[in-house]
Amino acid sequence: MRIPFIAGNWKMYKTVAEAVKYVKELRALVKDVEGVEIVLAPPFTALHAAAEAARNSKVGIAAQDVYWEREGAFTGEVSASMIREAGAAYVILGHSERRSLFGETDTTVNQKVAAAFAAGLVPIACIGETLDERERNETFDLLDRQIRHGLGALTSDQIGQLVIAYEPVWAIGTGRNATAAQAGEAHGHIRKRLHQWFGPDAAELCHVIYGGSVKPENIADLIAQPDVDGALVGGASLDVRRFLEIVMRSRGRDAARAD
Ligand code: 13P
Repeated sequence: MRIPFIAGNWKMYKTVAEAVKYVKELRALVKDVEGVEIVLAPPFTALHAAAEAARNSKVGIAAQDVYWEREGAFTGEVSASMIREAGAAYVILGHSERRSLFGETDTTVNQKVAAAFAAGLVPIACIGETLDERERNETFDLLDRQIRHGLGALTSDQIGQLVIAYEPVWAIGTGRNATAAQAGEAHGHIRKRLHQWFGPDAAELCHVIYGGSVKPENIADLIAQPDVDGALVGGASLDVRRFLEIVMRSRGRDAARAD
């Protein structure tokens, strides 16, 4: 049984002081909350301080990227073991902003996902189509390619531990979320492929979460879809009360599915 997984991707927002204040507030608000996994992804500068503030709480910490080498002359890069040592347990990989602005490809995702697992980090691997690709009816082909090339080298066990974030690029930061039906269809396709390519156990265990303009107002409909296991939240995660609202509403998943 997959419990809902709600992660806040802060992108390039929040200073160390702001991050610590937020984490302290959130950890107190969720201290008695069960049945949902809660993760925050601060920028690198605030990673360690946020992880310290979240220690022994219900809040997990993620980095937003990683480099695949263990150490070396790679100016500006950070390794998976450094991220682990800083206190994070997760890492976001292959985000569409990294793909479109910083040259990330399925090949680099493949290397990063392996490095993350080797260091004991849980990867949150992002996939998703652009508007052009959706309009040309290429969504499923693109998802297949991103899974095959980015994640194809993983074992079934690793797929079972992985979080896949389906983030249609046209829904990110636009206020235009995928409808629950569109998300449900894409997630159903991803689950089917995981089953075909990695087996029933991997498909059953892997969390497939949705990202793209998730807010308190639409989380209940999205999470009611059978294959939507949570959310990767950008803008709405910057405000602790709005993020908390999303966390709390995601717990109504089983009730919403029964409607
Ligand atoms: P928004 O929620 O701001 O659309 O961002 C989504 C996202 O990119 C999360 O990784």
